[in-house]
Amino acid sequence: MTATAAPTVTTRLTGLQPTGGLHLGNLLGGIRPLVESQYAGPSIAMIADLHALTMEHDPAKVRAASLELAAVLLAAGVDPQHTALIANSQVPEHSELHYLLECVANYGEVARMIQFKEKSAEALSKPFGLRPKSPVRLSLLTYPVLMAADILLYDIAFVPVGEDQNQHLELARTIATRFNARYGTTFTVPAGVRPEKAARVMDLAEPTRKMSKSSPSAAGRIGLLDPPEVVRRTIARAVTDGVGEVRDDPENQPGISNLLGILAACTGEPPRAFTSYGELKREVTDAVEALLAPIRARYASLSADPAYLRSVLAEGKTRVRPVASETVRRTRAALGLLD
Ligand code: TYM
Repeated sequence: MTATAAPTVTTRLTGLQPTGGLHLGNLLGGIRPLVESQYAGPSIAMIADLHALTMEHDPAKVRAASLELAAVLLAAGVDPQHTALIANSQVPEHSELHYLLECVANYGEVARMIQFKEKSAEALSKPFGLRPKSPVRLSLLTYPVLMAADILLYDIAFVPVGEDQNQHLELARTIATRFNARYGTTFTVPAGVRPEKAARVMDLAEPTRKMSKSSPSAAGRIGLLDPPEVVRRTIARAVTDGVGEVRDDPENQPGISNLLGILAACTGEPPRAFTSYGELKREVTDAVEALLAPIRARYASLSADPAYLRSVLAEGKTRVRPVASETVRRTRAALGLLD
């Protein structure tokens, strides 16, 4: 995928939902690729708090998780002097562009999204054979259009995301391309950026499914703020196989291959040869710990200062607002709305 128009102001954006339970996949798939290239051009790190309202939620938890995510992003290396840290709810142009893009997106293409199918099935599940857990919110259906708005609002060229966001990103590209063809060139068509090694970090307890905030058990997840002994225990208990040889063979040895992928992503080097699963697990533990320890330490001081976190978000909003309002003005004009 390549970007088709030169970015004008901002080149990279990534977003994460403040739904708690941030894990290693979020760091390796979304946060680190943004941080690593943040000095290559202007960037935005975004808290997708509007997206967190698409499933049943506790308002107090969303608020707390948004500040927690702000602290984690800064602790992981987002440099607020350089990268604007924003929440999509705090920049009202995200919602306005969302609606305008809904007038270009089609029902069929959003209803086809895998995440919509999975999450609507989850909402409708009947845990005790009684009533469904919760109704499916309309916003869950239009979720990827809001994500497209997050991206198209800022002329973003590159979007670092994990593999699970491929379909959403493709839809953002489709919407931008369609809009440009129908109403004149208005948007940069973005390209996805995927980490070579960790685009899909798998669950350690069930290595055929991706590591996820919403998986029922924490046994397969390495939390970004987990204490060292929990990280060690989770990796020590990671599901392997009966083959007895350390080989990168995702089909037949998904657990071992996942551990090798995590190791490579953490160290940035191809893994050496291992003679036992225990030896591999110990090395993975050390590599993950080397990555998480400084984040944990910085998080501890940042999270103690919510006023600072709010001030960084306020500053980020001020910085991005001119581009956002200019994009909305351009979009409204292209669509035929009165100014
Ligand atoms: P979210 O909050 O589910 O995930 C945040 C980021 O983490 C990546 N990720 C993974 N990467 C590798 N392995 C995994 N197991 C794994 N699990 C999650 C995700 O791909 C993502 O990069 N819709 C988005 C949030 C969003 C957004 C945006 C992203 C809203 N607007 C605009 C980019 C641009 C989401 O729910 O991410």
